[in-house]
Amino acid sequence: MPTSIRTGSRKASSIGRKYRASPRGAVRRRSRRILEPSPRVDGPRSDRRRGGPLGRRRQEDDDVLARLVALAKRGIQEAQVRQSFESSLEHPGVEHIDSYLLHGPRTRRGLSEADRQVWRAMEALHGEGRARLLGISNVSAEHVAALCEIAAVKPAFVQNRCFARHGWDREVRDVCRREGVVYQGFSLLTANHAELASRTMREIATRHGRTVPQVVFRFALQIGMICLTGTTDPEHMGDDLAAYDLVLAEQEVEAIERLSG
Ligand SMILES: NC(=O)c1ccc[n+]([C@@H]2O[C@H](COP(=O)([O-])OP(=O)(O)OC[C@H]3O[C@@H](n4cnc5c(N)ncnc54)[C@H](OP(=O)(O)O)[C@@H]3O)[C@@H](O)[C@H]2O)c1
Repeated sequence: MPTSIRTGSRKASSIGRKYRASPRGAVRRRSRRILEPSPRVDGPRSDRRRGGPLGRRRQEDDDVLARLVALAKRGIQEAQVRQSFESSLEHPGVEHIDSYLLHGPRTRRGLSEADRQVWRAMEALHGEGRARLLGISNVSAEHVAALCEIAAVKPAFVQNRCFARHGWDREVRDVCRREGVVYQGFSLLTANHAELASRTMREIATRHGRTVPQVVFRFALQIGMICLTGTTDPEHMGDDLAAYDLVLAEQEVEAIERLSG
């Protein structure tokens, strides 16, 4: 493996620039220059078809080329993750990040090769002690299971928008529980307007003399989530934290879980 690509050194970023300018062509052209054999090395068609020595050599060349392209792409992903990580350190002026999240997989189903490469690059940062915990966001249950299967460093967190109409993201939470991953829910208030305005929710809030947001946050805590809030209001933040003093009865938790989904 060419170390200049794998290590994300200056050379890797210059390849990155080239790659961005002309994605596939750039990598292929570089590799072809190295690999393209002398004229007619592929031999007569019959030789290739029969898997003769020249045909086999051509196949080997293609395999090497495919491996080189994959390595170059991995190097580019790693360089980009490192660049993004460095700028994440710069903004708050810190030397490590406690929780470093992959914003989301590229495809709706499964993990793409690019996602795997990004995760590997994040694992490398974790290995260097610069990203203490790794996580992934905006995922399906299938994504989480796939990531846990290939990860050398499992995600510590999954961070998702938590919709009551999807059973408060039940499927993802189930995989997280099975895999020992902590589920972080966001938009608990803003993604669930109808459910928050429901009679069930208002009755529970009235019974405890609390606000509906407090009931939602307490419910989320009781079913095992870490709750994220997007408030910018200190008073709201104080109210939300007071959810720790509240305890919902089992039937109340079940009633909220049944609201939809
Ligand atoms: N991973 C991702 O892709 C992703 C995407 C989006 C967000 N997030 C994370 O999730 C966090 C929360 O997301 P969000 O803003 O959608 O969530 P949210 O907590 O559902 O919504 C916050 C909004 O609700 C209002 N609000 C009214 N009463 C409130 C109360 N008692 N407590 C809290 N907020 C109250 C807030 O206004 P006031 O400011 O007036 O209180 C604010 O406008 C974000 O800060 C971010 O860290 C992650």
